Amino acid sequence: MSKLSRIITVALSVPIFSCLVGCGMNKLFQKQDYGALPDGRKAELYTLTNADGLKATLTNYGAILVSMEVPDRDGKLADVTHGYDTLKGWLSNTSYFGSTVGRYGNRIAKGQFALDGKTYSLAKNNNGENALHGGIKGFDKVLWDAKPVKQAGAVGVEFNYVSRDGEEGYPGNLKNTVTYWLTDKNELRIEFKATTDKPTIVNLCHHSYWNLTGDPKNTILDHELMLAADRFLPVDKGLIPTGERRPVEGTPFDFTKLTKVGARINAEDEQLKLGNGYDHCWVLRSKTGDVALAATLYDPSSGRAMDLSTDQPGIQFYCGNFLDGSAAGKGGTKYAFRTALCLETQRFPDSPNKPDFPSAVLRPGETYRHTMVHRFYTR
Ligand code: GLA
Repeated sequence: MSKLSRIITVALSVPIFSCLVGCGMNKLFQKQDYGALPDGRKAELYTLTNADGLKATLTNYGAILVSMEVPDRDGKLADVTHGYDTLKGWLSNTSYFGSTVGRYGNRIAKGQFALDGKTYSLAKNNNGENALHGGIKGFDKVLWDAKPVKQAGAVGVEFNYVSRDGEEGYPGNLKNTVTYWLTDKNELRIEFKATTDKPTIVNLCHHSYWNLTGDPKNTILDHELMLAADRFLPVDKGLIPTGERRPVEGTPFDFTKLTKVGARINAEDEQLKLGNGYDHCWVLRSKTGDVALAATLYDPSSGRAMDLSTDQPGIQFYCGNFLDGSAAGKGGTKYAFRTALCLETQRFPDSPNKPDFPSAVLRPGETYRHTMVHRFYTR
């Protein structure tokens, strides 16, 4: 780039950036310090607001959704996610509250997989013999670069992180981008993108814990859930899919129509026992690869509802079975058993070891993409 074009680029970009942060858009995008990591690097907090007052707060530590404030049927705003008030809380977050999970969200059996004839051993992290959610220091525990972004009808933050070849055992330098958008249609849209310089595996996930009542002391057992899936993936005792795609019809796993989460959660069912409740991946019906409705979540008490759409083949529905009241979160709340649920769109768990599952392999020259759209409304 010539000196002149560099000057022009800088001259053009400075007003745009400072405008995003400092002038006309300051109601929509705000940035503040969020404290220092143990190594001295600084984390930041970004707040996105839309015309209806919905507010998404994010941090570049872990590319985490810190809070999501949405109105109830009387217009009263409340945060509908579990998490922490301070960076210190997020640093020791072991539940993946609000996190960007990677390089491979969910489980890989025995922490091993083979690709192009070579076997890779991954970091194992307190999940028996399996690897879970990217390893000991997964993408939820690293500092991402961040920049404000804007497009018609939406304001956002783009996070970037390069995961080095060999990090947590995965091959290839992987360039990751996660962009969170808050739209004027009351959507939180998350777009994931990754490219690699060596064949590798990728399954980036978003791991928010939802409680649409807005009071994290309530359980989510009275929430109603619809999953656009006719089959789910039964698991073994380590929560690794057996490979079967089992029809949900006639089982407690049938959420084809809005059904209370707690309606059948204590049924005599081997799969519910293995998961200590719901902690399974459902096979989404849509086969087009386009963004399609995957789930609807509705809380009758507040009227808050959320439609979740995605282009991924699976959705892990986890209903907070490991929450045990030990983690003191926002406002000091001890998050108790089943006080939130996760709807994690993704490739299937253990895909790298299951040739029949949709592939999670990414090769140089290809681009991994994953979109999730959460649309909030009331009923
Ligand atoms: C996922 C898994 C659960 C659990 C949580 C994090 O949703 O499926 O088994 O590990 O993450 O606690």
